[in-house]
Amino acid sequence: MSSLYHCSINTIKNGQANTGAYIASPSFPNYQYCWLRDGSFIAHSMDLANEYASAEDFFRWVDRVILRYSHKIVALEKCIRDGLPVGREAILHTRFTLDGFEGTIDDTWGNFQVDGYGTWLWALAYHVRKTGHYGMLDELKESIEMTVRYLELAWQLPNYDCWEEHPEYLHPYSLASLYGGLNAIALLEAEGRLVLPHLEPRKLAAKIKEFVLSYGTTEGRLVKHILPSNGDQPPMPLIESAVDSSLLGMSIPFRLLDPLDPLMVETVKEIDRDLVHEDGGVYRYRADVYYGGGQWILLSAWKAIYNLRLGKRDLAIKMMTWIEDQADAQGNLPEQVSRNLLAPTQYEVWLEKWGPIASPLLWSHAMYLILYHELQESQTT
Ligand code: BGC
Repeated sequence: MSSLYHCSINTIKNGQANTGAYIASPSFPNYQYCWLRDGSFIAHSMDLANEYASAEDFFRWVDRVILRYSHKIVALEKCIRDGLPVGREAILHTRFTLDGFEGTIDDTWGNFQVDGYGTWLWALAYHVRKTGHYGMLDELKESIEMTVRYLELAWQLPNYDCWEEHPEYLHPYSLASLYGGLNAIALLEAEGRLVLPHLEPRKLAAKIKEFVLSYGTTEGRLVKHILPSNGDQPPMPLIESAVDSSLLGMSIPFRLLDPLDPLMVETVKEIDRDLVHEDGGVYRYRADVYYGGGQWILLSAWKAIYNLRLGKRDLAIKMMTWIEDQADAQGNLPEQVSRNLLAPTQYEVWLEKWGPIASPLLWSHAMYLILYHELQESQTT
């Protein structure tokens, strides 16, 4: 086992508070929160590493958070029923303090992102299947129900994308994560592991898939954003939004599309052409300016996992080696690497604003672990 494997597990364990929350990055002032998105992928990586107690602590933390703020779901229901604008009092946040409370250093930093809620359902479903701890479904039943209800109400509302940008649009990646989570829960329900009266996760997942396929594509590939409907105008793909590497998630892990589906193949061709650097680093999207738009560790791991599923093992290993080369002497993986920047002049701007790039970023370590396990598994199959 590589030393980065052990470092990654330790980094994640050290970054888990006794409440169960995973800090996004212990050394980066603005990332002293637990995000549902990051946390769910981190918990998943701990499941793969057989660190089940860590994953369960996180799932219980999410459960408590959702129950604490469940009055917001009731408020959202009322807003929608009465045709009122949806305000802060009616949306669940994307990030929380490690104690599980809303709280932010900057009020202008948007908090309405739905993808983390789909991702936690997906990660939880995987956990109970892998461990056989189906009792957790009973234990967390109320928050699972609340999440499905929330997603039923919120999925068509414009919200921030997974990079916390563009709240004016809908995003195929975010919708895919809802699809993945709802489908995973629906399967458990179909197997009689869970009963969710008055909710129909399977139907909702199917509706979301149909929506993405109807409005989230152009010329045989996926787009990054969808313009929501406006009056008589139906939703439309935002063609100029091009592709984003997070679109890999449409297929792996959320399975809205098969990796070999022509739509996915065409999308990944564009990602390869526009966003994968020959050294193995992967960009988020062409117009990225955050810290100058560097190469993201977690996306390189994601792309490597994708390559593995397509049988491109050598390419996957090359990307994994690139990731390992980016770790510092203490085995810390950063969020992004500032080499071959897309928008070099913006690097200093962010450095001044928020300080040095987050490192370690727990989500980077988690994706490395996931890749590591995928590689092991592909050796034995
Ligand atoms: C990223 C988010 C991530 C957060 C914490 C942000 O810069 O855009 O995707 O959840 O950092 O890691």
